[in-house]
Amino acid sequence: MPTKVIQITALAFMWLLLLATASHCVANDDLFTKHTAAAIQLVDRMTLAEKIGQMTQAELTSLGDLSDIRRLALGSVLSGGGADPDDGNSLAAWTAAYEACQQQAVGSRLGVPILYGVDAVHGHGNVLGAVVFPHNIGLGCTRNAELVEEVNRITAREVRASGMNFNFAPCVAVPRDDRWGRTYEGFSEHPGVVAELGAAAVRGLQGFDLRDPARVLGCAKHFVGDGATAAEVRLPDWEGFGAEKRLRLDQGDARIDEPTLRHLHVRPYVDAINEGVGAVMPSYSTWNGVRCSASHQLLAELLKGELGFTGIVISDYNAIDQISDDYKLAIKTSVNAGMDMFMVPQKYERFINLLTELVNQGQVPVERINDAVTRIVRVKIAMGLLDQGFSVEADPQLAREFGSDAHRAVAREAVRQSLVLLRNQDGALPLNRQQQRIHVAGRAADDIGVQCGGWTIEWQGAEGEVTPGGTTILAALRKAVGDRVTYNPAGHVPDDAEVAVVVVGESPYAEGAGDDADLALSKGDRQLVQRVAESGVPTVLVLLSGRPLILDGLEEHCEAVVAAWLPGTEGAGVADVLLGDYQPSGQLSFTWPRNASQHPINVGDADADPLYPFGHGLSY
Ligand code: GLC
Repeated sequence: MPTKVIQITALAFMWLLLLATASHCVANDDLFTKHTAAAIQLVDRMTLAEKIGQMTQAELTSLGDLSDIRRLALGSVLSGGGADPDDGNSLAAWTAAYEACQQQAVGSRLGVPILYGVDAVHGHGNVLGAVVFPHNIGLGCTRNAELVEEVNRITAREVRASGMNFNFAPCVAVPRDDRWGRTYEGFSEHPGVVAELGAAAVRGLQGFDLRDPARVLGCAKHFVGDGATAAEVRLPDWEGFGAEKRLRLDQGDARIDEPTLRHLHVRPYVDAINEGVGAVMPSYSTWNGVRCSASHQLLAELLKGELGFTGIVISDYNAIDQISDDYKLAIKTSVNAGMDMFMVPQKYERFINLLTELVNQGQVPVERINDAVTRIVRVKIAMGLLDQGFSVEADPQLAREFGSDAHRAVAREAVRQSLVLLRNQDGALPLNRQQQRIHVAGRAADDIGVQCGGWTIEWQGAEGEVTPGGTTILAALRKAVGDRVTYNPAGHVPDDAEVAVVVVGESPYAEGAGDDADLALSKGDRQLVQRVAESGVPTVLVLLSGRPLILDGLEEHCEAVVAAWLPGTEGAGVADVLLGDYQPSGQLSFTWPRNASQHPINVGDADADPLYPFGHGLSY
């Protein structure tokens, strides 16, 4: 066959293949590619400086008087965990900060508004008074896509109440080793559960029209294999998070072959892209030694090419620093690999200058810059940011419903459905609210901060009354039952108590700070549970944790055991189930190991012998 004919046939085949692969992401194309021509018209009017400005995301707390937003025509601003506005942490202060940033942006030469990004990963957790929902591990145990969509729809409304329009969520990690500090950010160890609920979260956040002023741009993260990293013995010189942690998984290396990566970790992105997710954030971690943020294979070929992603690829927080000690080389590598927007919170001007040099020196093709900026601009067009009537002001109606009882009611239902009844002997549960004298023990029973976990007000979260408006488990039991509820954090059980509820769990953490070698209950918590159990009354153990904990036989001393995960502000949802007002319906979305030597253990592992298997969950 003549060469020419072969070439034409091959080209035709490639086009057919491209159309076939792109077709399964048709939803995403409908959202963004239809704005390509309009976007190119605007990009063609931009100077190189304005184009690179659009690719730059700076952090609010590094921007001083905010004038750099206008001067550099920045495309985006973020508030990472705990990066509150200068004048305090209130909805009004956050809203004022957003509007001031946006005012700067629309005052630039071309007046392109910014994307303002936050980590509203379980409600608008940065802001005092927001409704804080269960973290994803709890939502995973609901197996309820409609509920997850509703939780994220309300989250979007509370985020837009402050004006912010970009949410670094959903996390669609598939955590495969519970010792990872970000396990609770994942819905499940099972990719099918993550894919279904991740897509539902995107639907809730983005809706079906990104112009909707009550919706936000979503961001599926962290691409790809963030939950697959191998546990490594901690090197003494590894910075941060205290030397007592013996193990490191976060930002580690995923040592798995490509079929495993695709089957377990790529799959949720196909569903998120089909739902039209507007951004994807590459992971800090590496895949067989190659940094995700530097991988042309993962970003350009797989994510944008094969999966047909047409939104914005945005780096993680200073993630490109880890590519090379030579910052200019790091930038070059990541841009050319397919990164479109750069989360460079502090050194945003240095980033801009170096990328400008790289383009002028021909080390980064201007076509790559134009592709990145076209992607950014067409997302902004799809969001209505470039519409004639665009207003920098947040919607006061959304502010009126911020932290509302109606929103809290949905969060309380999510808590109920997230609870997993692991053990229930002799009908210890439900409690008899009419007659029983109920004794409550454990500091965690009366601690909003422990209920919420990380990514709440502070990046790492904190114990105590971290945010107003919520209800602790103790307060909810007292409200429902009255003075037949007694409480003693240390667990001394009164003689007339007829049942004891002991609440223990993990202190809040986020990311690498949560990497932990054995996941055993603290010595103090074990002693507390044993002390209560030895008092002779039926004992109900409630666990507040970001992952399955190692009970080491403690469950045998308790008539009932309930996994409540990190339920957020609405602890009343826990009391509702303990009191029998609602049936427990949760099913484990993570395998519960018998002991630490079983880590990692996942559904489908050959001859796995867990304490409680994936899918386990009792009812009354
Ligand atoms: C963090 C996390 C990422 C988050 C980002 C912005 O380090 O890895 O999930 O969205 O920085 O806070």
